[in-house]
Amino acid sequence: CGIVGYIGKNNATKLVLEGLKKLEYRGYDSAGLSFIRDNKLMTFKKKGRIKVLEESFDQDEFSSNISIGHTRWATHGEPNEINAHPHLSSDGKITVVHNGIIENYLELRKDLIKKGYKFLSQTDTEVIPNVIADNYKGDILDAVFKATEILKGAYSIGILDEKEPNRLIAVRNSSPLLFAICKDGYFIASDITSVIEHTNKIIYLEDGDIIDIRENSYTIYDKNHKKVEREITEVNISAADASKEGYDHFLIKEIYEQPRVLREVISIKHNNYVINLPLEGSLSLEELKNINKIYITACGTAFHAGEAGKYAIENLAKIPVISEIASEFRYKNMFVDDKSLVVFVSQSGETADTLAALRKAKAIGAKTLAITNVVGSSISREADKVVYCYAGPEISVASTKAYTTQVISLYFLAMDIALKLKEITQYQVKDIIQNMEKIPSQIEEILKHKDEFKKIANSIKDAKSIFYTGRSLDYITAKEGALKLKEISYIHTEAFPSGELKHGSIALIEEGTPVISVATQSSILEKTISNNQELLARGATVISIAEEKNKFIKDSSDVIIEIPDTIDLLTPLLAVIPEQLIAYYASVLLGNDVDKPRNLAKSVTVE
Ligand code: G6P
Repeated sequence: CGIVGYIGKNNATKLVLEGLKKLEYRGYDSAGLSFIRDNKLMTFKKKGRIKVLEESFDQDEFSSNISIGHTRWATHGEPNEINAHPHLSSDGKITVVHNGIIENYLELRKDLIKKGYKFLSQTDTEVIPNVIADNYKGDILDAVFKATEILKGAYSIGILDEKEPNRLIAVRNSSPLLFAICKDGYFIASDITSVIEHTNKIIYLEDGDIIDIRENSYTIYDKNHKKVEREITEVNISAADASKEGYDHFLIKEIYEQPRVLREVISIKHNNYVINLPLEGSLSLEELKNINKIYITACGTAFHAGEAGKYAIENLAKIPVISEIASEFRYKNMFVDDKSLVVFVSQSGETADTLAALRKAKAIGAKTLAITNVVGSSISREADKVVYCYAGPEISVASTKAYTTQVISLYFLAMDIALKLKEITQYQVKDIIQNMEKIPSQIEEILKHKDEFKKIANSIKDAKSIFYTGRSLDYITAKEGALKLKEISYIHTEAFPSGELKHGSIALIEEGTPVISVATQSSILEKTISNNQELLARGATVISIAEEKNKFIKDSSDVIIEIPDTIDLLTPLLAVIPEQLIAYYASVLLGNDVDKPRNLAKSVTVE
């Protein structure tokens, strides 16, 4: 989602709308804005792109000097006018735009309803203006201070209060928000894209900061509500580069976004280690008892996530799972019947083959469940159940953050099924989630070694062929690594199950052929090591991806990429990060169009 706010001498309504258009890449399923004109708070919202909102009213007729706006990428509640931001307090006096997630919104909502507050939408956001209203004792800033002590989660918000028409309040809490200083006023914004054409004087707010902005002055308070000074940065960035937030490409930006989005998705999917799949996504025990076969189908990267999901369901819930590429699933006899559950994984929710497979399964009478990133997409609407990935918009064709959030979402589904069937205990669930919670900072650790991955990319970029190997879950990570590299570097890559090499593929190995060996699964490490030895003996250059604890893998590798230690189930989430970065740097070094590789499209809506 994206937020923009303005207070100053110019027409805020117009400036906010223009700013929102620049933020459309952050989400575009609905948009809205509030402004205060002649002491009266007004709000316009529309489903669809910002243009629809813009064309719905005359910005000169509704000019103002203070406004906040929002472009949405749905998380809680489908994309429609009611769920669009801004959201107002029950009395219609306080309006809020919000980016992030309020984790304790359900309990807050319940309490507020008891106190007589009325809710119109299904969003978590709507609790914010009401919590502020509930704590209002004549000063909006004081009420916001109190609200920040009550609201839990990661959020950035912009707030207007009709009773104080010359004041814009904003809060940054683990979700991006900046403050920009112009000649004739001030902006708040999710990122620099929306303000760079007006000013380059930026204050990057810190976590917990609350800013009280008037027409000619502003005051920043830290998380303890103490006044603070924050440095003004003069940024040097062109408007064209701004939506990439300073990164050279969307792909690298999206790779770096993974710690944040994974933190968010993990926190949404459990409450205090109790799995919290929204009602529409979880299967009841009764429904599960009616199912005797599970299928997973998808295309491309989403299929690899699906295969990791298959592994998790088989190992945790002890149910065999059949995985098949969607374009195959459609035309084969898969023996799907009305006792089958078919899971469809799709970032866009629009991929034609996956959608056709879904329609086929539904026609047979199977239960269908979608794992998707796009709320309101065709697949999300047509499936019986939906589990969302919450990765935010993914722009680059090669999928990165969608993949890791799909894996997490599938793992939660697997744990939910396993727990209901009593194949695992709540204690085991807690242990897995606790390990998951470490993954975002472990990814941050890996990202620090980008120069190492650049060097590896440089050493392999001219190879004729590059092979990826692995066993079990590592084979899935190998397949995803091979796909990532071939998609954007155009180098021929293939993934082999390590044990299968000797049955044919090893004939392809020549002196210096690069092989990326994914070696993280502890129970089969010894086997993987002997496969590495076979490769080394035939002249391959073996680059192993291994956990820090398994330093001995050095002996059977030319190069070792260390990833932090975790449990076997979760290594795909870490091992894929060096693969993504190697693919990225190889593509850059080869001078390719990184974000829009030749012959490929982000969402393939043809069969
Ligand atoms: C296209 C993209 C891939 C993606 C696949 C499935 O081929 O280039 O990156 O993995 O479609 O897309 P979906 O939106 O269904 O996940």
